[in-house]
Amino acid sequence: MVKSLYELGELPPLGEVPQQMYASLIRQDRFGEPVKAFRTEVVDVPAVGPGQVLVYVMAAGINYNNVWAAGGQPVDVIAARQKFGLPEDFHIGGSEGSGVVWAVGPGVRHVRPGDQVVLSGGQWDETAEDIRLSGEPPFSSSALAWGYETNYGSFAQFCLVNEVQCHPKPENLSWEAAACFMLSAPTAYRQLFGWPGHTVRPGDPVLIWGGAGGLGSSAIQLTRMVGGIPIAVVSDDRRAEFCLELGARGAINRNDFDHWGRLPDADDEEGMARFLRGARAFGKKIWEILGERAAPRIVFEHSGRATLPTSVYLCATGGMVVICGGTSGYNGDIDLRHLWMRSKRLQGSHGANTREFREVTKLVSEGVLDPCLTRCDDFEGVGRLHQLMHDNTHPGGNMSVLVNAPERGMNTLPA
Ligand SMILES: NC(=O)c1ccc[n+]([C@@H]2O[C@H](COP(=O)([O-])OP(=O)(O)OC[C@H]3O[C@@H](n4cnc5c(N)ncnc54)[C@H](OP(=O)(O)O)[C@@H]3O)[C@@H](O)[C@H]2O)c1
Repeated sequence: MVKSLYELGELPPLGEVPQQMYASLIRQDRFGEPVKAFRTEVVDVPAVGPGQVLVYVMAAGINYNNVWAAGGQPVDVIAARQKFGLPEDFHIGGSEGSGVVWAVGPGVRHVRPGDQVVLSGGQWDETAEDIRLSGEPPFSSSALAWGYETNYGSFAQFCLVNEVQCHPKPENLSWEAAACFMLSAPTAYRQLFGWPGHTVRPGDPVLIWGGAGGLGSSAIQLTRMVGGIPIAVVSDDRRAEFCLELGARGAINRNDFDHWGRLPDADDEEGMARFLRGARAFGKKIWEILGERAAPRIVFEHSGRATLPTSVYLCATGGMVVICGGTSGYNGDIDLRHLWMRSKRLQGSHGANTREFREVTKLVSEGVLDPCLTRCDDFEGVGRLHQLMHDNTHPGGNMSVLVNAPERGMNTLPA
């Protein structure tokens, strides 16, 4: 007989769905520091609709988007969904994970109960006209970040995804390692290879902000994979070492400079001179690493306000700054003269398409791309690990938590 609630790690009969589940929830009255915002509670298992898949979650990856969700800013994700008529007064985050397909809704054709999967974080309406016409789901008005803009992410015993989010789990990986790369690595992959005219080529210098982070650790490896030259930026020696071990040609400590933040007004000559002195000194570090006076053809951005002026200034003539986030703030100042006079491109990039998600799982399966799991906690660690990320005191690479996986190192269901 199916119980109405199973303990974490306790296995229901395959395909039998209990009424309730444990989930690490954010509620509006707890918005703030992640360590307080997340709390384990019992809620109903969501119903599975057409095209949807219910997954028994074995492990879940930690990402920056749920640091934002925990704080309730810049968007209150719960209120935003309620505005569209969705009733839940809680948020279950988690935009990547590994697990086992447990139940499928009508119309699901490519996965079935028992399949071991990793989950990608982009959700969209496959029938949307803007997808049919562009072939690019990230451009669709129906596209949402699963487990951030949508509910029922991977920080729960069961999560709800669309069929297209399910990808074969790399067999060589433990549940926790398989859970940690499907957001950061595909985003980095699209940033580096998704924008024709500016894909990384052999010999291209690529400047990678936050080289030791989730995005950065993938970007270093992906750049190396095609013969590019990754140059990492970090904030301490331990992270520099981590980046060099991953294959960075060199690492620059951003704390050796102080020209960060918004640009002064263009007619503030003294302020501009101060900025240029800082940015040029930073650029010289790049020359030292490269052994020649060369500029990065691609600048891999996500740090935003603090770094964008330097990124655009230092990017090579005809090169691209490709940005997917604004960790340090959303006001990104640029001196337009440097953009147009030197024919530079400033490209936004968000998530990945289905092909890119799948290609990244293949690179991981083949052992070409290391998911770089550096910390895995138990389920109660969801808030703790987001807090480390919030405080920028997390280890390099990616982090995950065990959900139903009873211990680290397992890559099948318990007998
Ligand atoms: N749009 C998308 O599809 C998408 C997907 C994934 C992530 N993102 C966004 O991208 C950002 C990074 O994600 P992540 O997973 O790589 O996070 P992460 O693992 O925390 O890494 C971010 C790195 O940024 C660096 N950093 C922090 N503050 C900085 C500052 N003021 N100036 C320069 N560097 C700074 C830190 O490295 P150091 O302190 O060592 O320099 C940190 O390791 C987040 O804002 C996230 O929301 C967007």
